[in-house]
Amino acid sequence: MRTQVAIVGCGPAGLFLSHLLHRAGIESIIIENRSRAYIEARIRAGVIEDWAADLMVETGVGQRMQREGLIHGGIHFSFNGSLHRIDFHDLVGKGIMVYGQHEVVKDMIAQRLAEGVQIIFDVDDVSVHDMATETPCVRFRKDGVTEEIACDFIGGCDGFHGISRPSVPAGVLTEYERVYPFGWLGILAEAPPVSEELIYAYHDRGFALFSMRNPHVVRLYLQCDPDEDINNWPDGKIWDELQARLAPEAAAKLQRGPIFQKGVTAMRSFVTEPMQYGRLFLAGDAAHIVPPTGAKGMNLAIADVLVLTNAIKGFYSAGRTDLLDAYSATCLRRVWKAQRFSWWMTQMLHQDPEHNPYDRKRQLAELDYVTSSRVAATSLAENYVGLPLEV
Ligand code: FAD
Ligand code: DHB
Repeated sequence: MRTQVAIVGCGPAGLFLSHLLHRAGIESIIIENRSRAYIEARIRAGVIEDWAADLMVETGVGQRMQREGLIHGGIHFSFNGSLHRIDFHDLVGKGIMVYGQHEVVKDMIAQRLAEGVQIIFDVDDVSVHDMATETPCVRFRKDGVTEEIACDFIGGCDGFHGISRPSVPAGVLTEYERVYPFGWLGILAEAPPVSEELIYAYHDRGFALFSMRNPHVVRLYLQCDPDEDINNWPDGKIWDELQARLAPEAAAKLQRGPIFQKGVTAMRSFVTEPMQYGRLFLAGDAAHIVPPTGAKGMNLAIADVLVLTNAIKGFYSAGRTDLLDAYSATCLRRVWKAQRFSWWMTQMLHQDPEHNPYDRKRQLAELDYVTSSRVAATSLAENYVGLPLEV
């Protein structure tokens, strides 16, 4: 097999890369080690930044999101027993789109296949080769047969646990990391939302996040231990905990319903520099991870591949290599700002076992400040809806 860009991984990064390349007249093949059904059911992110939602609409993959997604003009913080709203529309004139990542993945897979792009699911033994040459290739096994894709570029879009990053020779990459002493227990339940907008709750018992997918399905997160056993969380305990952690005005509206999905996510911040090696370009979670508190992960993945598409386009249309060489530096400026914001939201809102009463007073002062100062709230809003793009 031969293509211009071989893409490893069919998450948001791989799918958007293939989608944007296609629009620039550039061919790609995606390989994915899971099944289509598995990745279409994998529950993750829910918040799409303003520019990313616009990009989906402008490039023809946003029709269902426009019909079913929820546009939110702000968020609430819950602390000291009451709710405090940050009004994004008023502060920065933009909002966010609440639409499940797996719905984005479903919409994009359907469109890639309808446009004739090959996605090879259920592959094994994926490896990348000759990245330091002009003729790299990707090898894998499908149904017991070894296959090879010869290409000009490889998109390493295979997430944090993928093979792309570890395939870069030792000494090339520098990794920066912070692991947090807590995780999130996430659930989906059939119940009406208690609020029209998301609620980020600070509480002595631990952080809670109230989110939603539609008028009948809520998405809830509770701070827990990073290695928490899900069996310790029967449904009743999850609802009780949420009830306790939300401000009374929201807790009073909580309606319990059947929980149909549960999972625990450990939290880390991670960046690798540079995000490229020869003709292998790392994008999305393969290159960086943020704790989910700032809702940035999927958005960063989309921003990376927008930069990469532009660089690859410059190569094919004008023989330019400067944009490819600048890929990593261009992406990392945005990545580090999202790292800062995600870390900041995380440290402000979680109970950290290393914190003492002083730290808790400081967290409450910080929440009071961001919800009462227009300047501080504007900074939060600007970051939450998505910083301006540099491509
Ligand atoms: P992934 O989605 O991980 O995709 C990588 C793909 O590569 C996968 O399909 C994987 O199966 C495949 N793969 C792995 N190894 C191989 C291999 N060897 N060969 C072939 N394929 C391989 N982000 C937000 O923007 N907003 C949010 O609100 C938000 N909330 C989150 C809440 C939770 C609970 C979690 C866990 C994450 C959240 N995120 C959020 C983060 C977001 O989900 C990720 O950042 C996003 O999935 C990154 O996309 P990606 O394509 O880079 O990686
Ligand atoms: C959701 C996830 C997040 O990480 C976040 O910060 C906000 C919302 C969600 O899944 O809806």
